Amino acid sequence: MAKMWAGRTTAETAKAADDFNSSVAVDGRMYREDIEGSLAHAEMLARCGIVTYEEFGEIAEGLKGILADIESGALAIDPEAEDIHMFVEAELTSRIGEAGKKLHTARSRNDQVAVDMRLYLRKECAEVTALLKALIRAVVVQAKATKDFIVPGYTHLQRAQPIVFAHHLLAYAMMFVRDAGRIGDAVRRMNVSPLGSCALAGTTYDTDRTFTAKKLGFDAACMNSIDGVSDRDFCVELISAFSLIMTHLSRFAEEVVLWTSSEFGFAELSDAYTTGSSIMPQKKNSDMAELVRGKTGRVYGDLIAMLTVLKGLPLAYNKDMQEDKECVFDALDTVKACLGIFAPMIETMKPDRDAMYRAAGKGFINATDLADYLVGKGMPFRTAYKTVGEAVSYAIKADKTLEELSLAEYKKFSELFDEDLYEAISLSACVRRRISEGGTGAASVDKQIRFAEEFAK
Ligand code: ARG
Repeated sequence: MAKMWAGRTTAETAKAADDFNSSVAVDGRMYREDIEGSLAHAEMLARCGIVTYEEFGEIAEGLKGILADIESGALAIDPEAEDIHMFVEAELTSRIGEAGKKLHTARSRNDQVAVDMRLYLRKECAEVTALLKALIRAVVVQAKATKDFIVPGYTHLQRAQPIVFAHHLLAYAMMFVRDAGRIGDAVRRMNVSPLGSCALAGTTYDTDRTFTAKKLGFDAACMNSIDGVSDRDFCVELISAFSLIMTHLSRFAEEVVLWTSSEFGFAELSDAYTTGSSIMPQKKNSDMAELVRGKTGRVYGDLIAMLTVLKGLPLAYNKDMQEDKECVFDALDTVKACLGIFAPMIETMKPDRDAMYRAAGKGFINATDLADYLVGKGMPFRTAYKTVGEAVSYAIKADKTLEELSLAEYKKFSELFDEDLYEAISLSACVRRRISEGGTGAASVDKQIRFAEEFAK
């Protein structure tokens, strides 16, 4: 096929090589950003006297026409094109002629693709942040509804201490708040313009890179043209932030799968977010949660692929870097799909207060409180710990809970035990008395809800 860059070479490229080389199937989604970047560049060329204002007018009109036609469906992006940059430029030249051939003055595809990526990802990151906020709002809805649902808190997946379910859920809200922060950090660092770096060395034309940077909403023009065209740190940073979102979703998903199992029975998912089995009529499966857990692996894979593409690349641009888009777009699409399904799944989940309370009643999760009770009566904590351990061991053999042991039985372990121990180990008292900052007590839970709600509004 004849190429826009034909000149140095005389023979035509092989069809197989064209197919292998083409990235338009992947980068075609950046057509808007490509046109936006070209408009800014063309305006700069006119301001700097490199093209005439008349030529700029023709270029701008041509580019806007192409944009409108792609959006309306009148113009299909040619799947045979080498990439979106070549497609737009060739289309422009076929529409407006000579002026179109001037657009690529003082520019290269190397800085063009770096600009397009940053513009595209900046916009998409705003969407990911909005999805994170929607998920936080769904968590808050559930937290508000479960402020007094007592449930075992776990360590090692063994029942450990009583908490309220809201407190457990709000731990996830905190993770998603940090995730949004990480995306914001990455976007701030990414928001410098490589446009005008050209192939790698800058250009002999007297251009105005600050103008295009500002026009495109960047904070500044990047300071080194070689770095401008070869930097893909932002891809790594973003996929890394997406990977951590997936880690959080995957942990949450795993808990949803556990909670909705008959063994736990802590919650039921809405029919709208579950599936049945093709053979076992009794089944209601948490497929959405499982799929999110499963898709986590591919986002981690994208991160490793991206890092590996960059490893050992000499400066500046190398064609290897075309692979960046496959990695970052796949991670982006996956994280958006997972956040999108998770929020309504969580919001419509039905937590079961009684099942949680039943589980909290077993497993001696008030043993720490019983030890604290003895400490309150003057016993050193280590001694209290051992005394309660003996009482627990006795209760297990007697097949009783701590509440079911009589005072006479308690007295065998320590004279300090008295009638008031029963109130001290009631599950609601255990939760109520966890008044430390960030604990499961009511004031702390309310504070977390207010914080998460404010963040996500
Ligand atoms: N499709 C290419 C990419 O995504 C655009 C840059 C090509 N530059 C070049 N010198 N071949 O990386």
